[in-house]
Amino acid sequence: MYRLLRPLLFRLDAETAHRVTLASLKHAQRLNLFGHAQPMSSPIELMGLQFPNRVGLAAGLDKNGEYIDALAALGFGFLEIGTVTPRPQAGNPRPRVFRIADANAIINRMGFNNDGVDALIENVRRAKYQAILGINIGKNFDTPNEHAADDYVFCLRKVYQHASYVAINISSPNTRGLRELQEQEAMNALLSALTTEREKLADAHGKRVPLAVKIAPDLEPAHIRDLADMLIAHRIDAVIATNTTIARDRVSALPHANETGGLSGAPLREQATAVVQELARHAQGALPVIGVGGIMSGADAREKIDAGARLVQLYTGLIYHGPGLVAEAIGSVA
Ligand code: FNR
Repeated sequence: MYRLLRPLLFRLDAETAHRVTLASLKHAQRLNLFGHAQPMSSPIELMGLQFPNRVGLAAGLDKNGEYIDALAALGFGFLEIGTVTPRPQAGNPRPRVFRIADANAIINRMGFNNDGVDALIENVRRAKYQAILGINIGKNFDTPNEHAADDYVFCLRKVYQHASYVAINISSPNTRGLRELQEQEAMNALLSALTTEREKLADAHGKRVPLAVKIAPDLEPAHIRDLADMLIAHRIDAVIATNTTIARDRVSALPHANETGGLSGAPLREQATAVVQELARHAQGALPVIGVGGIMSGADAREKIDAGARLVQLYTGLIYHGPGLVAEAIGSVA
């Protein structure tokens, strides 16, 4: 089905195609067109949560949590919504998403366009979905890095009782200075603020919600190892590797390759897998890794698991291969 629709969707600009696809999914799910077939899977426990399968939706596809039930119907073992910021913001001017179809890739510079954390919570409340929901949080573009922790803590408080886990996004290339939060001093301060707040929230709500930190692929191995040590020291529950890359070496000759933003899809695969491997090898089980980046097939999902990831997430693969990729990936990593 998706093979027939794709040429039509690819005639639209990338952001319009995205909106049309998600709106259609929502209609299809409401009409119960998906049925209840669940692909073969083997459940696993991670971060104290029981995942029905290892394949999740990556952040950024449903930034406001508007399509939770429709996306759940595709068979994912978990969904991650966001990135959400304290206040609504428009993001960068359009066009801000570009397909590089010859490379099965996307460049985006959305810039955390979202309706704000309160709107996301309303959407989560309305959803019927009861399974694992990650909520990915960030900072507003106009909050200086010295005050970044305030934005993350604000979002953590708001989403705490609605999230199965909270993902801390410090790796988007599209918010100026954000990735500097991965530097040692800034990261220590941010993690201290978040884990202190988490302890308070855990007492208040009687449940400890796991925290996962999402990192960039454009880091040196030594930096990756330092990050892993820091995450373990702060008792962070998982690391999500990786976000989009600012590298362009694998697409350099292709149209749109010099657009500013983060590159995702097939050209990111190896680089993201290398980060997964470095983290897993260094942490030796002390820090579960969620692998994401360039998973375009079941074999690619398997590659991330073989490199040490416990779970995987998909985004760009869905744009190129459609929802059938979810079942294929689940089958390959079961
Ligand atoms: C993203 N990604 C992303 N990540 C995140 O943590 N917060 C976000 O808001 C977004 N937004 C976003 C928008 C678009 C259009 C794309 C393509 C990607 C990154 C995404 O979750 C994932 O980490 C990367 O895209 C790598 O995986 P894939 O796409 O190669 O499977």
